[in-house]
Amino acid sequence: MKSKNNHLLSLTRKRILSLEVLFCSIFILLFAKVDFAQDGEAIFKQNCSACHKMGMRLVGPDLTGVTTKRTEEWLMKWTRSSQALIKSGDADAKAIYDEFGGIMMPDQTISDEEIKAVYAFIASKSEAATAATPAVTEAVVNASADATPEVIELGKNLFVGSNAFSNGGAACIACHNVNYTGVIPGGLLAKDLTTAHSRLGGDAGILGILGAPPFPAMTQAYKGKAITETEIAALTAFLNKVDKDTANQVASSPNLLLYGGAGGLVGLLVIIYLLWFVRKKDTVKKDIYNRQLKSI
Ligand code: HEC
Ligand code: HEC
Repeated sequence: MKSKNNHLLSLTRKRILSLEVLFCSIFILLFAKVDFAQDGEAIFKQNCSACHKMGMRLVGPDLTGVTTKRTEEWLMKWTRSSQALIKSGDADAKAIYDEFGGIMMPDQTISDEEIKAVYAFIASKSEAATAATPAVTEAVVNASADATPEVIELGKNLFVGSNAFSNGGAACIACHNVNYTGVIPGGLLAKDLTTAHSRLGGDAGILGILGAPPFPAMTQAYKGKAITETEIAALTAFLNKVDKDTANQVASSPNLLLYGGAGGLVGLLVIIYLLWFVRKKDTVKKDIYNRQLKSI
């Protein structure tokens, strides 16, 4: 009887203990969640905001609601390496990659906890965001189209290095090329920027990248030598101009070149064919003629 009571007692104790553990966990989770949200914002600013903004599309998609659209596992994999996920044959990953014209999201080297914190922040922001303003994007995208020729010239000079950056950063041409009248061919270390302005979604894309370069080589080049806002605006206007001029050229002249070239090639083939055919026909005719002669 006594031992049975003891047994009951210890069972109740155990139950109380597990309740305590449960409450503690809940408290820890609650507080941790608040912490997550705070860290998440900082991590987002540092690692994602060059390309992502909540409520509008930049270089990358608007991430509002992404935590309900995708599973946590998917988001983990994507953030660690979007390319690996695409290569594994994931259809959603491939689709979003194609939708953004094959711009590669760099692999994020932050820890799993930090990734979770970022998505906790994104989730909390998504709940808060009700009224997104898509009209803003248009305005931002096209602002640099109104830049004065002087501003564009400044951007060009900064790009090629004939004007120094006020904080001493390297000229863009050291690593990047653009096709633009009067600009010598640039470096091949990084992507050609001739169509970067439209490829990255207009001003917002360039502004985001120059404000906080998300690429290690560029971050390194401008560490402690931040490009000023005036310089960023000038470079953005210059890249917009380069992009537009190229688009115009593509629309007017190359068709001539293309058709001219194709026409020439077809002409050449026709001549070769005719020469060959005539020669062949001749010999075939002769063969038949000879054969007929023999059979008579
Ligand atoms: C250099 C730009 C860049 C940075 C930095 C970047 N992303 Fe992206 N992200 C993209 C682009 C571009 C896409 C669209 C898919 C593609 O082209 O690969 C994308 C897509 C995504 C998607 C998929 C959205 C969907 O609808 O499925 C998620 C999620 C995402 N990014 C989260 C993040 C997070 C979190 C960070 C920071 C830790 C981050 N990204 C940093 C450029 C970037
Ligand atoms: C030390 C080399 C270096 C310098 C200097 C540099 N960049 Fe970059 N930049 C890179 C690298 C590396 C990338 C990553 C993508 C790639 O490989 O092209 C990049 C990416 C970019 C992108 C995104 C390209 C895209 O299409 O995804 C833009 C825009 C850009 N740089 C603009 C500039 C501008 C403007 C300057 C001058 C202020 C500049 N960069 C200076 C190395 C450099």
